[in-house]
Amino acid sequence: MLGQRVSLRAVGSPALLGSLTGTACAAWLGNSRRPHHRCRRVICATKMAWYQAATLPESHAIMKSVSLVSQKGGAGKTTLAIHLAVLAQEGGKNVVLVDCDPQRSATKWWQRRATSDLTLVTRGANDLSEVLEAARSDGYDFAIIDTAPHADVAATLAARLADCALIPCRPAILDLDAVVTTVDLVKAIRKRAAIVLNACPPARGVSAASLTTDARRALQGHDLPIVPAAITQRAALAHALIDGHAVTEFEPGGKAAAEVRALWTWIQANAQAS
Ligand SMILES: Nc1ncnc2c1ncn2[C@@H]1O[C@H](COP(=O)(O)OP(=O)(O)O)[C@@H](O)[C@H]1O
Ligand SMILES: [Mg+2]
Repeated sequence: MLGQRVSLRAVGSPALLGSLTGTACAAWLGNSRRPHHRCRRVICATKMAWYQAATLPESHAIMKSVSLVSQKGGAGKTTLAIHLAVLAQEGGKNVVLVDCDPQRSATKWWQRRATSDLTLVTRGANDLSEVLEAARSDGYDFAIIDTAPHADVAATLAARLADCALIPCRPAILDLDAVVTTVDLVKAIRKRAAIVLNACPPARGVSAASLTTDARRALQGHDLPIVPAAITQRAALAHALIDGHAVTEFEPGGKAAAEVRALWTWIQANAQAS
């Protein structure tokens, strides 16, 4: 017998662009099946809609969720969350970007985006369980969760509720010092997690810059996987965000696009439910 689950459903706005109702069988990694529902688009004109629970038949969707966590501001959580969400979508996945950061950076990026092709949910971490359950019920393949810095409780919750946590870290001494707090957090809750080096100096030829190599070596002491693909500090990454794009849209053939694609490929291959 089919059970009942909640669904994401935008409410309270006359300018509702789409709905998230219905059930779906969603594809997951390695499964070539596509969701056999039409891709559902959200949200409302305010683009800050709240969602309420609605009951729907149980779906068979298997959604994967990734939380970007780092107690350090400026590490690259929002930048990478946005890019991962766009990459998932470009790969034909049904993805929801969840902005749990009160700064609402991802939401503001989404508001600058001309198209409404990407689902955004703006909710605090306290509501994340409900949001993920609803997204799961609606057949989303991926939830990418952006979180706030300096928010122990919220970050812990976001990491706990996601299948895995991705910790961006800049290759600089203050960042390497600060990442310990986040590493301890994910270890304390025994969460599957990985560190990604972000905003690295450009490589010299085929060799990574020494700063990047040294940082990678230092991070190895934390006994967490380090994503092989480091993300370089590139103006294109920041420029793309200005008008609501990702770098794969802004400069699809560029080096920055290649790096974020490599990160996404690694995540897809390695993100497993814990
Ligand atoms: N790889 C990168 N290359 C260029 N700029 C970057 C890169 N990563 C982050 N930034 C920039 O650094 C700043 C902080 O990044 P952000 O993603 O907002 O960090 P966080 O969300 O962890 O606070 C932003 O201005 C962003 O555009
Ligand atoms: Mg941020």
